[in-house]
Amino acid sequence: MICIIIVAGHGAKLEQEILRDESGQFTDLINVPKALLPAAIQSNASSGSNWKFSDDQRILNCWWDLLKSRQQFKEVYLVTNADKYKHYERWATANEFPVPNIVNDGSTNAENSIGAIAALELTIRSKNINDDILVVAGDMIFDQNFSIEQLLDYFKHKKGDLAIYYDLEENKSTEQRGIIEIDSSSGRIVKFLEKPKPEETASRLACPVFYCLCKSTLPYISKYTDLYREPKDRSFGCFMSWLVNEGHTLYGMKLPSQFQLIGKIDLSEYTSWIQSSIKRNEEPALKPITVRTYARVGLIGNPSDGFNGKTISLTIGDFWAEVTIKPSTKLKLNLHPLNDPTEFGSLSDLYGISRREGYLGGLRLLQATCKKFYEYCSSNGIALARKNFSLSYETNIPRQVGLAGSSAIISSTFKCLMKFFNLTENDIPKPKQPQFVLNVEEEELHITAGLQDRVIQIYEGLVYMDFSEELINRQGHGNYIPMEINDLPPLWLAYVSDPSDSGKIHSTVKERWRGGDEEVIKGMKDFAEITDQARDAIETKNTNQLLELMNANFDLRKKLYTEKALGEKNMRMISIGRKYGSSAKFCGSGGAVVGLCLDEKKKYEMIQEFQSEGFVVCDLKPYDGATKGSDKIEREL
Ligand SMILES: *[C@@H]1O[C@H](CO)[C@@H](O)[C@H](O)[C@H]1NC(C)=O
Ligand SMILES: *[C@@H]1O[C@H](CO)[C@@H](O)[C@H](O)[C@H]1NC(C)=O
Ligand SMILES: *[C@@H]1O[C@H](CO)[C@@H](O)[C@H](O)[C@H]1NC(C)=O
Ligand SMILES: *[C@@H]1O[C@H](CO)[C@@H](O)[C@H](O)[C@H]1NC(C)=O
Repeated sequence: MICIIIVAGHGAKLEQEILRDESGQFTDLINVPKALLPAAIQSNASSGSNWKFSDDQRILNCWWDLLKSRQQFKEVYLVTNADKYKHYERWATANEFPVPNIVNDGSTNAENSIGAIAALELTIRSKNINDDILVVAGDMIFDQNFSIEQLLDYFKHKKGDLAIYYDLEENKSTEQRGIIEIDSSSGRIVKFLEKPKPEETASRLACPVFYCLCKSTLPYISKYTDLYREPKDRSFGCFMSWLVNEGHTLYGMKLPSQFQLIGKIDLSEYTSWIQSSIKRNEEPALKPITVRTYARVGLIGNPSDGFNGKTISLTIGDFWAEVTIKPSTKLKLNLHPLNDPTEFGSLSDLYGISRREGYLGGLRLLQATCKKFYEYCSSNGIALARKNFSLSYETNIPRQVGLAGSSAIISSTFKCLMKFFNLTENDIPKPKQPQFVLNVEEEELHITAGLQDRVIQIYEGLVYMDFSEELINRQGHGNYIPMEINDLPPLWLAYVSDPSDSGKIHSTVKERWRGGDEEVIKGMKDFAEITDQARDAIETKNTNQLLELMNANFDLRKKLYTEKALGEKNMRMISIGRKYGSSAKFCGSGGAVVGLCLDEKKKYEMIQEFQSEGFVVCDLKPYDGATKGSDKIEREL
């Protein structure tokens, strides 16, 4: 790939105002081309009347730092005009830019200017460029670093031309920019408007001169310059707009940065920009962000979520996983002292811990989530700011009892990353977020799971979910409908205290389902039916009916999976519950059960029996996050 920086414009309004300024503050900047104007002032001088500009931080240096620091480009060229050539030559020598790579377009003033697209065409022709290219205007500037690698990853992934865009600041007019309309599902730019009036488009997505063009697009550039010979038609915006109108495929990638100093900016805009850059540097570092995600209980319908069924589940307030993200000079994942042990009391201590807890701490969950997050953003045209962070986690969700502890850590990490990189549901729509979490587990960690846990941990509260094949094929996700959590009767929760010998469930249900086994397919339909009935029972507060349905749910599970595969301890918990007239069914894949007991006296006896057999039992405390619409989950420290 080749990079071409364009700085061939003439008579910028800014340069003229600097020339005419009578205050004497800007004499050092007279005749300096816009791209070589200082990008910083020394902060101690900001209050006085005389500006103290930084000598080595020029606007162009910001680009050069970004481009040269990566070994991504075979060559970087700079195209300028005859008038300003010497300035750039001097800059190149001082900044280790190869002088032979400066192209002179021969123009000396605005009247004989050849236009930006012609300057590009000249560079391609005179340097025999026959490669993919990245083109940027070197006289604009970004306010937040981003990763060129990630941008080029997206370009390679899409194998098509790419325009960079950003959200125009509220204050800025569309009439100075190229504005695009984009189809968010394909990432394709459907309309490119050069400097449109506000009534011409509702879009405020602006394109700076910052494009990746495929080798195969280069002939269109000379075709265009042959067709349009007036300098006024030879802006990048006109060319891109023509290209899109010709039916050419152009993708968009959104950068987190705002772009400044675009178009005909004047001296006052420049000075206020450079002053605000001091303020930005002085701003205290971003605060740490902590996000909590709660454990979940599958109330009804599970495990049909993995089989195009329907389920209802809820978040519980007693158990949660919390992840904290902090800005950091290095990217760092912090070990959890208990869950990721690296030091032991003795060899027998190591033996005991490993036997009980295995080798699967939480660190791999953080790492896998970060990896997938980058991957998701890179393949969906979301560029991330280049900044480092540290992640740490804390959790009190009992391990290996099917309360979705791993998925809670992943969900919290994901929510932290979203906040840290300032992404919203516009970038990753909420109904797609559970699938993201599931992909981390299935594709990175080879955990087999259904969507239910991730849906409830993203939505929170009590949610009815429909995973019908038809829905998922049509919209890419199920239907997730929040329910009133206060409609629920009091529930209890019991779980094994020593999950290491609860036995793993080995079952062939998934294979049978994939193979079209009629019993399994019918069973999953029955789960969905039970769920619909339970939804009615909850809404009408028909507690007896709900109790029956929970039992029916378990009985159906037992029939499909067989008692042996469900494990002895799990079966024991169910039978203790049933013995006292309570309903009892698995919360997830085993290890914990949820039940509904209508008789207080019997419930007391039941709890005694659970406890004397070594199970842990408690009242279940539903956690209603989403329906209250509060920000309870996000505690900003
Ligand atoms: C980009 O990062 C470099 C070093 O990492 C820093 O010097 C520069 O100020 C940053 N630029 C912006 C616009 O944040
Ligand atoms: C627009 O920006 C200018 C400076 O860039 C600022 O002084 C002004 O307050 C802004 N106006 C609004 C409505 O934000
Ligand atoms: C991120 O951290 C690495 C070291 O871990 C460092 O080399 C790099 O410069 C940092 N990047 C930023 C933008 O601070
Ligand atoms: C985050 O994004 C919103 C809108 O997308 C924007 O208004 C806000 O300024 C951004 N915040 C930061 C810190 O970039």
